[in-house]
Amino acid sequence: MTKPLLAALAREPLATPPVWLMRQAGRYLPEYQRVRAQAGGFLAMCHDPALAAEVTLQPVRRFGVDGAVLFSDILLPLAAMGMDLSFEEGKGPVFGSRLKDAADVDALKPVKPAEAMPYVGRALELVAAELPSHTALLGFAGAPFTLACYAVEGGHARDQHRLRTLMYREPETYHRLATKLADMVAEHLAFQVDHGAEAVVLFDTWAGELTREDYLRFCAPYSQRALESVAGRVPRMAFVRSGGHMLDDVADVGAEALALDWRVDIRDAFDRFGDRLALQGNLDPAVLLGPPEEVTRRTVALLDRVDGRPGHVLALGHGVMRWTQPEAVEAFVQAARSWTPAAAAARA
Ligand code: CP3
Repeated sequence: MTKPLLAALAREPLATPPVWLMRQAGRYLPEYQRVRAQAGGFLAMCHDPALAAEVTLQPVRRFGVDGAVLFSDILLPLAAMGMDLSFEEGKGPVFGSRLKDAADVDALKPVKPAEAMPYVGRALELVAAELPSHTALLGFAGAPFTLACYAVEGGHARDQHRLRTLMYREPETYHRLATKLADMVAEHLAFQVDHGAEAVVLFDTWAGELTREDYLRFCAPYSQRALESVAGRVPRMAFVRSGGHMLDDVADVGAEALALDWRVDIRDAFDRFGDRLALQGNLDPAVLLGPPEEVTRRTVALLDRVDGRPGHVLALGHGVMRWTQPEAVEAFVQAARSWTPAAAAARA
């Protein structure tokens, strides 16, 4: 039997939709907090295959989700390229020095994942060995544009003023950087598939800040180049946060599935893309801060709107927030398990 998540990505009809959550492993889980305290920090946990595998499996055991997403981070390959990455409490990711000019771009080391990030391959193998038969193993990477954003800004930056200055004043340097990142991501995705990833997600968290014109010029070609490395091997999902205005363009980037954020009407997206793409999403993660009954009500309403269309993967429109109660995630998953067309028809 095909795993439900993979069947949905192939747009096969299913009785109930598969479900997983972005950031399903993390600080909202007490068992994660215990491993993190033992490891001494987030990066130490990512670098230790046994611990990374353990936290990857925690939400699988607790909630029975259909996807296990490797515990890692999109920024680790930038560290492998030579950037000094740390995660500071309360501040998120910080780079000791940021990329400023062409010389900094040229100094980035090419990455051979097997040598620079062997722990990723090992963690995937450890997870694969423990995974229930219905659960699919997901690999992922950051899209070149989003990675460039962190590398040029030196960390988290909403207004992206340094990156935009580089893009518009030194487009050659930007394109050199994005090409280098695309080639790195391509290798990293292929490496994860070699080690057991059954589908991959490309996260372009910050591309939604751009106009369509800039998305087509500065993002899409590089995401496409990165995704090509695993074409035909595994289904590929493309996520753009706040990308409602450019869905037509994201739909053409080469992925088999679009991961939608919560601002998009998912039925409308099915009408536009449902005949050629699987669609993932898209409950607002903040709804999970509410009581379980409200999570159930909102999730059922979302599923009623999708109305059993083939190719739906139930997920949040972005990551689980750290203030979420595990009971809310439980209610979310259970709503998917108990949804039926007959009950939906009775509610209509
Ligand atoms: O469960 C999973 O989804 C798998 C693991 C995963 C993490 N980060 C773990 C993590 C994945 C897929 C990511 C992707 C990621 N990382 C993205 C793209 C998706 C998105 O969220 O838009 C981005 C932009 C990053 C960069 C990043 N990593 C930020 C901005 C932060 C700080 C935010 C925060 O919540 O503190 C991180 C840290 C991070 N990555 C944590 C986790 C569980 C929190 C680490 C901790 O302190 O324990």
